Amino acid sequence: MAERLAAAATLRAAAITAAPSARRTGRAFFLPSSSPALARVALRAAAPPRLPQRATTVRCMAASATATASDPAQLKTAREDIKELLRTTHCHPILVRLGWHDAGTYDKNIKEWPQRGGANGSLRFDAELKHGANAGLINALKLIQPIKDKYPSITFADLFQLASATAIEEAGGPKIPMKYGRVDVTGPEQCPPEGKLPDAGPSSPADHLREVFYRMGLDDKEIVALSGAHTLGRSRPERSGWGKPETKYTKNGPGAPGGQSWTPEWLKFDNSYFKEIKEKRDQDLLVLPTDAALFEDPAFKVTSDTQNVYAEKYAKDQDAFFKDYAEAHAKLSNLGAEFSPPQGFSLDDY
Ligand code: HEM
Repeated sequence: MAERLAAAATLRAAAITAAPSARRTGRAFFLPSSSPALARVALRAAAPPRLPQRATTVRCMAASATATASDPAQLKTAREDIKELLRTTHCHPILVRLGWHDAGTYDKNIKEWPQRGGANGSLRFDAELKHGANAGLINALKLIQPIKDKYPSITFADLFQLASATAIEEAGGPKIPMKYGRVDVTGPEQCPPEGKLPDAGPSSPADHLREVFYRMGLDDKEIVALSGAHTLGRSRPERSGWGKPETKYTKNGPGAPGGQSWTPEWLKFDNSYFKEIKEKRDQDLLVLPTDAALFEDPAFKVTSDTQNVYAEKYAKDQDAFFKDYAEAHAKLSNLGAEFSPPQGFSLDDY
């Protein structure tokens, strides 16, 4: 019985792989089990990692509940490819930014999917990549497109979030309690309107941050913790208009040289962002108006009982930052997403 179930699951995976258009449209697609050609396809598709029985069952459910959910086995193997990409190209920061910009369009006041925006893979379409806030993210898409092509049974929405969480973890950050199973939007007409992501230099930075992040259903603690992602990466004047063309920390790369980083070691995830933003002692390091607000706005740096819980605390206590960051990142990665199966799944179970 177990063998027959596994064979059925394999054939279904082969059918999904062989008929991406049917998968996209959600049409049912049946295979005659007696076809020798299909049996060969099934055997080839069966070669990658052998799943325990539980995994097979969930994969069947995911494939039948909605045709666009990701295959856990493919996602897990894709994660290894992402690690290799990170090792060879040092693209951690831009992958984090990609995941954040796909999710960060979410509007909690809109109930319908995908009109509510969020982590739904819409950022793969030109219509959204052309938004001013997304300048340069086409490079992130180009980097991970070969991985998407290699694993046809994963969604863009999951791949973006997997890439971002893997980049944080591989840069030395905390393990993010991620779940997967995000469904993709199907066309550019489902992209969110421009203007949902935060500006770096608004007239009242703290008010602006609250307006944008509260719309996503996030709170002050999450705003401050998530801003700590700027411990990674650089700003480039030719993309966002912010930052210096190069500094002593960026002129030799790694990766494409140039830009201005928030921290000296901008490929290492730690709490140095908060230390540097607090001190503002190095002209070669960037402080955006929205970064500075974290130490200027009273509620971002301390609670009402004057305990240092957010920015001040993160500058002193890396463990506290890592704990809050991991929770906030996972929450961000789920914003607006439609999951199949509805509860999502963790790669730790496979
Ligand atoms: C709080 C409001 C935020 C503002 C105003 C903001 C603004 C910016 C700007 C202007 C850049 C430079 C882009 C470029 O020139 O290429 C940038 C880069 C970056 N942002 Fe943010 N950001 C915010 C929040 C976040 C969040 C929540 C995350 C992730 C959780 C994030 C992750 C990054 C990363 C990793 C980079 C570096 C990208 C690279 O080096 O290619 N940012 N951000």
